[in-house]
Amino acid sequence: MIRLGVNVDHVATVRQARMIDIPDPVEAALLAERGGADLITVHLREDRRHIQEHDVARLRERLSAGLNLEMAGTGEMVRHALAFRPDDACLVPERREELTTEGGLDVVSHADPLREVVARLRGAGIRVSLFVDPDARQLEASRDLGADAVELHTGTYCDAAADRVERELEAVRRAATVAADLGLEVHGGHGLNAGNVAPIAAIAEIVELNIGHSIVARAVMVGMVEAVREMKALIARAETAGD
Ligand code: PXP
Repeated sequence: MIRLGVNVDHVATVRQARMIDIPDPVEAALLAERGGADLITVHLREDRRHIQEHDVARLRERLSAGLNLEMAGTGEMVRHALAFRPDDACLVPERREELTTEGGLDVVSHADPLREVVARLRGAGIRVSLFVDPDARQLEASRDLGADAVELHTGTYCDAAADRVERELEAVRRAATVAADLGLEVHGGHGLNAGNVAPIAAIAEIVELNIGHSIVARAVMVGMVEAVREMKALIARAETAGD
């Protein structure tokens, strides 16, 4: 059974739009657990645009599911990870100007600094995955660094024009086979939604998927009727009380 990691970053994005304390990504994570999430994934970004340190601390305290911390491989983030002790850390590239993570880590070019980061995290008992494009050289470099897993970047497949979908899917399939043959656990994520997840979930080597935006977007829609009903009822009750 594939593990589902639910990324609740964008619950925090809505909160940060008002800089108040709702909606609470921790409460959303607990609801995601009730829905069957096997782990909760959050990305503590350098610019703190959504998830804050206190969110990670509270998740660590309150979750029954595993905690997967997506992070840049910087000294600051390693210090946070060593303090928060997530079950898993997924190293991602990070640029301030990007809307979301826009590509896999270049493990080949950054092998030396990454090796030290992987060793420090693994030394603390944190399982490490590297978010990489479905490219054999990146997978071999990930294995050489001692990573436990790779998360294959599915975004190129998800964003592909119709005439390129099969080619991008085949790249993910091939990469999954190569990674598993190298002894790496194979995860996938980025851009997955109800319409495109099936062929990825059918790849035998994939044991974990991390999905965020589409689940949060769907949750807003599924919850809208109830949220409006509640507010209408509250207003109606107040109106009656004022009569
Ligand atoms: N995996 C990684 C490594 C990511 O950076 C992200 C985005 O934070 C996701 C999965 C989830 O992507 P999405 O929000 O598009 O489902």
